Amino acid sequence: MAETVTITFDGKTYEMPVVEGTFGEKGIDISTLRATTGLVTFDPGYMSTGSCTSEITFLDGEKGVLLYRGIPIEQLAEKSHFVETAYLLIHGELPTKEELDYFNYHVVHHSMLHESIKNLYDGFPNNPHPMAVASAVVGSLATFYQNELSVRNEREIEITVHRLLAKLPTIAAYSYKKSIGQPLPYPDNALGYCGNFLKMMFSTPCEPYEVDPVAARALDVLLILHADHEQNCSTSTVRLVGSSMCNLFASVSAGIYALWGPLHGGANQAVIEMLEAIHEDGGNVDKYVEKAKDANDSFRLMGFGHRVYKNFDPRSKIIKNLAHQVFERIKTRDPLFDLALKLEDIATCDPYFLEKKLYPNVDFYSGLIYKALGFPVPMFPVLFAMGRLPGWIAQWKELQADENFKIGRPRQIYTGKSTRDYVPVQNRI
Ligand code: CMC
Repeated sequence: MAETVTITFDGKTYEMPVVEGTFGEKGIDISTLRATTGLVTFDPGYMSTGSCTSEITFLDGEKGVLLYRGIPIEQLAEKSHFVETAYLLIHGELPTKEELDYFNYHVVHHSMLHESIKNLYDGFPNNPHPMAVASAVVGSLATFYQNELSVRNEREIEITVHRLLAKLPTIAAYSYKKSIGQPLPYPDNALGYCGNFLKMMFSTPCEPYEVDPVAARALDVLLILHADHEQNCSTSTVRLVGSSMCNLFASVSAGIYALWGPLHGGANQAVIEMLEAIHEDGGNVDKYVEKAKDANDSFRLMGFGHRVYKNFDPRSKIIKNLAHQVFERIKTRDPLFDLALKLEDIATCDPYFLEKKLYPNVDFYSGLIYKALGFPVPMFPVLFAMGRLPGWIAQWKELQADENFKIGRPRQIYTGKSTRDYVPVQNRI
């Protein structure tokens, strides 16, 4: 017999079905709760709320497991590449050689931006944050392709997917070039996804540029590690916006904004800023560990803790190894990397962090690698967005195809003033 949960309220009992996932995780299906009982659930921050069923990504925060379409992240980071992983997330299976060639061809060949888009970059003030630019330009793509924005037409969705994946690196590189006053380069499609992006970021028309394969591979692995993470803040945003049947450009644009905050994709930037502050303050790591533990101090160790991972973040282990490889390659020792290693050593033995299950997360070392590759700090969250894009797309597509598709519309418990009369301004005290 199917499992149920019994709810007793106001002298009556109600049976709610239990839904079960692939690995035995269970949830109470309360979709009829309000209609049958008049109650809604109250769950700030959605700590206990499953907003959908999904076949894309599984993570077990206690065991430190992360699977994309069933495949462990460790295997993908070692054996796959970003474009292939994007295909896996979006289509559900690893591609055959022909499918991969087709996908790769289109993802590479849509890389140019409409020339008029360059005018948008001229309209921003000097030195705008590249996350604001990325989101604005991605949103504006909807105006350039406004006759192909159906959310139910497979072919229109496919071409939008290719355009988004192909153009986001160009959009990102342009925002950086614009901020430093250098000419906007054209993509070089022969160089592959990450090679082309590195060239657009760091080449100038005056000098030859050769892509460093170690740098390109490091970036590729980082993008894979960020490619999806089930119903996090930005992905939930993409789904919520998409649930109004809003097009993919607009939904992804909203996702980029959600990712910008320091508690989400902005954390890798916050980690570097924190390490710089500790460095400038004499490198006293213990002092900052104590500050993070002090309930009266708002300081937190950025790059530590995760809503879901309560043992270790499997991505952070891969990134730490990658960081060692990159620093070996560039043969310069970043004092911030040494500080980070020291901080991890101290914090991971400290009872406060152990009790609260706070471990380094994906952002702790990723910023140090980006920095070593030459990326300026404000670009870090943009790199996160480039990585997360296939996940947003896959989740948006899954939502649109869901047989239970509904516009997202949470309820609330109103705690404001009771009904009262309007008071004319002259009578207000
Ligand atoms: N440093 C010190 N104390 C912390 C930290 C930290 N980084 N993170 C959590 N705590 C404490 C917090 O003060 C609280 O203590 P108490 O129970 O005494 O009030 C307890 O741990 C639980 O914290 P929380 O904020 O209720 O936990 P959460 O699950 O809501 O938040 C988090 C998760 C990631 C927002 C939080 O750990 C944090 O702010 N970390 C630093 C920012 C960061 O690295 N963010 C990147 C997240 S991973 C990338 C992504 O998915 O976007």
